Amino acid sequence: MTDSSRVEPFDAVDVIRTKRDGGRVPEDALRWMIDAYTREYVADSQMAAFAMAVLLNGMDRDEIRVMTDAMIASGERMSFAGLGKPTVDKHSTGGVGDKITLPLAPLVAAFGVAVPQLSGRGLGHTGGTLDKLESIPGWRAALSNDEMTAQLRDVGAVICAAGSGLAPADKRLYALRDVTGTVEAIPLIASSIMSKKIAEGTDALVLDVKFGSGAFMRDYDRARQLAETMVALGTDSGVKTTALLTDMNTPLGLAIGNANEVRESVEVLAGGGPADVVELTVALAREMLALAGQPDADVEAALRDGRAMDAWRRMITAQDGDPDATLPTPNETHTVVAPRDGFVTRIDALSFGVAAWRLGAGRARAEDPVLHSAGIDLHAKPGDRVAAGQPLFTIGGPDDTRFARALESLEGEWEIGDDAPVRESIVRERIKAGGY
Ligand code: URA
Repeated sequence: MTDSSRVEPFDAVDVIRTKRDGGRVPEDALRWMIDAYTREYVADSQMAAFAMAVLLNGMDRDEIRVMTDAMIASGERMSFAGLGKPTVDKHSTGGVGDKITLPLAPLVAAFGVAVPQLSGRGLGHTGGTLDKLESIPGWRAALSNDEMTAQLRDVGAVICAAGSGLAPADKRLYALRDVTGTVEAIPLIASSIMSKKIAEGTDALVLDVKFGSGAFMRDYDRARQLAETMVALGTDSGVKTTALLTDMNTPLGLAIGNANEVRESVEVLAGGGPADVVELTVALAREMLALAGQPDADVEAALRDGRAMDAWRRMITAQDGDPDATLPTPNETHTVVAPRDGFVTRIDALSFGVAAWRLGAGRARAEDPVLHSAGIDLHAKPGDRVAAGQPLFTIGGPDDTRFARALESLEGEWEIGDDAPVRESIVRERIKAGGY
């Protein structure tokens, strides 16, 4: 709220002009700009102009740090200092079939580390972790801070909805960027993501920064730049931060949707599951445990011997979910088969994400519900040999009314060729403090 008697120390137009002309905004002016925007003294039109100036002219490391700090200061700051165990969080920039948080949080918790995973709902073609978990009957996403702390102490892992108290300045700014063509500015993305993660009060953070067709950042070099910027920001704020750059040209795993992604996560926790999901879960768990002081933890053993599954069951039960409940399955399905013998050479992540979204697995507006049974099950991945007539993928949902539009987005988006493509590992690079 604005206070008309208050004397403002800066003028938004001066701040905008400085950035427009390629200058460096002084720390006190930048802090004021964010604070005054949160108080609704700086108008949306002025913040939009500033965001565009940042997109065009960038920010240096110190400006990004100040901007992030100012966004953290706009809201509450959580602390898990009294838990008596290290806290490590993971953030993914989002992708298709990205259910990694589900097996990862209990896996890491199985080693006595606390994993406070504040998550969101999906918008557009990338799914939301909370939407997936809500396909488990009874499971509750909203926890009070006290419930969250108790669960971290007793179970170790919690995946729940982020309260609106964390970095409220970011909430307003992100909505504004969305409608002003300024989402893509790396300083703004980095400060947006990191303000929420630092405000959450974790000791350490591992970032899964994706590149490729289904990723928020398609281009490898830009994804790398984002990863470096976020690692530097976390490090400057005293949060031990590393990042993995991971491939999102192909959907992760075989399941894209909600209930089917939970099913696949449980397979991983039972020691099975698709190789790429296991690879990424294990790589991220190793990073998280290394930051928590356990560089030699035998992560695979915890998947094999049931310790991770045990933590999962306790995590779901603590939030009123029934880990043994039957998950929703589609009433209607349609299977696409291989038209010829050969090797699957491409399954485009973005198009399969859009198709799952069109089936109802995702939402177009924040207030829309999702259909938990809707989604896609892949039967083959790039590199697999298939014979003519063999199932390639199955789309499904409560009814078939959405099938035609989903199939439309898949036309020409998968390919079968004569030669097997070169299999590359999902994790391409590890970014740690020092680079910028
Ligand atoms: N996710 C966020 O939280 N913020 C961004 O700016 C982009 C992705």
